[in-house]
Parts: sequence; structure tokens; C-alpha cells
Amino acid sequence: MNLENIDKQYVLNTYNRNYVNFKRGVNATLFDENNKKYIDFTSGIGVVSVGHGNKAVADVIYKQVSSLTHMSNLYEIEPQSLLAKKLVELSGYDMACFFGNSGAEANEGAIKIARKYGQEKFDSKKYKVITLENSFHGRTITTVKASGQKAMHKDSFSPYPDGFSYDVSIKDIYKSIDKHTVAVMIELVQGEGGVQPLDKQEVKDLATYLKKHDILLIVDEVQTGAYRTGEFLCSNLYDIEPDIITMAKGVGGGVPIGIVLTKHKNLLVPGDHGSTFGGNFLSTAAALEVCSILEDIKTSGELDKTSEYFAKKVHKLYKNHKDIFAKNVGIALMQGLRVKKEEVLQKLITNAFNEGVLVLRAGQNTLRFLPPLTITNDEIDLGFERLENAIKNV
Ligand SMILES: Cc1ncc(COP(=O)(O)O)c(C=O)c1O
Repeated sequence: MNLENIDKQYVLNTYNRNYVNFKRGVNATLFDENNKKYIDFTSGIGVVSVGHGNKAVADVIYKQVSSLTHMSNLYEIEPQSLLAKKLVELSGYDMACFFGNSGAEANEGAIKIARKYGQEKFDSKKYKVITLENSFHGRTITTVKASGQKAMHKDSFSPYPDGFSYDVSIKDIYKSIDKHTVAVMIELVQGEGGVQPLDKQEVKDLATYLKKHDILLIVDEVQTGAYRTGEFLCSNLYDIEPDIITMAKGVGGGVPIGIVLTKHKNLLVPGDHGSTFGGNFLSTAAALEVCSILEDIKTSGELDKTSEYFAKKVHKLYKNHKDIFAKNVGIALMQGLRVKKEEVLQKLITNAFNEGVLVLRAGQNTLRFLPPLTITNDEIDLGFERLENAIKNV
């Protein structure tokens, strides 16, 4: 049986999988089993932030697992404590961290913290969380319900937990707030929803209003965090101070990790929350190295230069093909191109794949780019050359 058939027989069919067998990667370049070369503008959906086959991260992982991979959260975990300190310092906020294994798990943790806040802080319990209609917050039952996209609320998985409502835009949130509202949860740039940045002033006004009314602001930075939008957190870029921030994806560079950061440091007590694997030696040692690499490329100015170069290339593609693209959206290395006709999108992604450049979709009408943050100009040039070829045949 070949690999494709093994996969089809033994792995549940939950993804529209492309049957290509990648064997190795060097930064933003991948090679398949036939040594065909692909430029990766996806980084595994915003995960491989420091590139494929990163030697420094590999060395740290090897060294760590050669001594200790996992113990448990019942004992001190040196890289976990150091990573928490690093994340808090990079965030610039006075917060503390909880470690899990994924974005959805981080958002579950954030919702639990908000619910406990709603229980402890007020005479009658507050528990409702408002999110945006176009949002995506994960695939667990609760985070599916927290996601505003209607297509996510499939009847097959009902009943869902109570306490979530959705608004089309930030401006609509004010009138939805009632005496039970404990939190508003947003992505500052909606990733899965179409690489859509929220308006900065609207977000700042909302943050001020929520603070005044003692309603928590949860910012889901699972996709935007770890310098994806130019600053360590997109919240830094938007100049706001959330109560709770969730991170995952790019923080571990490919090692599974999810993080809740909150300024409500003493709300959870032993027994309230936990995770067997969360924050273990392996993931936190790797993430510590990833964060230090990312901090270095930010401080040296390299990241800003790469972001500018990449964004210019996306914009040029948009300008060259206004017959296909309606709009260029996104911030820094989180870019999108809205297509005019939805049916063109899959054709474009397939052609690009055949030409040897990997791109993503977001929603029904957005071509999405999430390259490794360490991508070189040569890789960028080659990727866009191939994209031009891909566009010729749509
Ligand atoms: C904004 C946002 N939140 C949450 C998630 C869920 O993360 P995970 O797939 O790691 O559970 C994603 C994943 O794409 C995301 O983009």
C-alpha cells in the first residue's frame, strides 16, 4: 500500500489533504520525496515562525530531550518558568501565564478565567462572552461555540454550551452587552475569517469602554501573536491592554504549545485548571529558543525589513492583477488578497502548488500568506515569480 492509501485507510478524513510527501525543509523552502522544491508561504498555518529545519531550535530540543522531555506540572519546570518570564517581558504587560498545547486549549482557559472572574467579582454571576460573527477561536465544543462563523455551529455536534453571542462589528457590541456579560473576545486581525484587521480606533474605544464597565477584554492572538503582525503582540500594535491574551502557533515554531496570559494573576487556584502536557520541558525549551530568535530579528531590524519587502510583493501582485483581486488586506507577514470570484481561489491555490509555491485560503474569498518570519528575500522573489506563473493559468 502506498502512503496515500495508508493515510486514507487509517487516518480520519477531517482534512482536504493534499497528497505530497514533504521530506525536509530549509527555512521557507520545502523538498518532497522527488526532491521537488516548494516555497512555503504558509509556515504550516502560521506555526513555523523561525523556518523549517531551524538548527538552533533543533539543537535546543535535542539537548533538552536528551536530559528530560517531560515530568509533570506537580514539579518545577525550569524552561516553563523562564518562558513565562520571557513572554511577559516581551508583552510589556503585567501578566502571568498558563501553558497548554494548542490555540483552542488556550481559548478554553481564557473563557474559564473570564467565567471565574464573573463568579467571584459580582453579586450575581456574569458569564456571557461576546465574539464577532466572522471570528474563529478553535475546534473544541466550547471554542466552536465561541467562534462566530455560523458554518461552525453544525447541528451534528450540538448541544453547545450557553453563554455566547455574536456581533457583526465592534460598533454593534455596545448594544449587546447586558448585566450577564463578563467578556468580549476578539482577534485583532481575523485570520480564518479573511485576514481582516479590525479598526484600531474602534478597538481602542471598545477597550476603554470595557475597562470602565468592568468587562474583560480577551484578545485571541493565536494567529497574530509572536511577531506575526510586526510587534510581539498585535495588542502592542493596537496600543491596548487586554485582560487576557491567548497565544499558540508561532510561539513554539512547530512544537505544540498554547498559552493564556492574564493580568488577573490570582484568580485561578490549584485544581481550577490543568494540562498534563502543557508547559513541559520539551515545548517550553523549544519555545524559549524560538522567542529569543524572533526577538533578535525584531531588534536587529531584519523582521521589519522582511515584512515590508513581503507586503510590497503582495501589493504588487494585487496591482498587477486587479482583474482577479478585489483588495489587499492584512498587516506585516499576515497578508491576504481578496479574489473577485470565489471559484478562482481554489484554482489559484492548486496552480500555485503545481508551480512550487504553497499558499493558503482564508474563508471563501481570500488568498492568504503566512510565511516564516525568517523568510529570505530570495525565497520571497522565487515564490512570487511562481505565483505570477500560477495566475497566468487561472
Ligand atoms: C485566531 C485563532 N484562534 C484559535 C485557533 C485554534 O488553534 P488550534 O488549531 O491550535 O487549536 C486558531 C487556529 O487557526 C486561530 O487562528
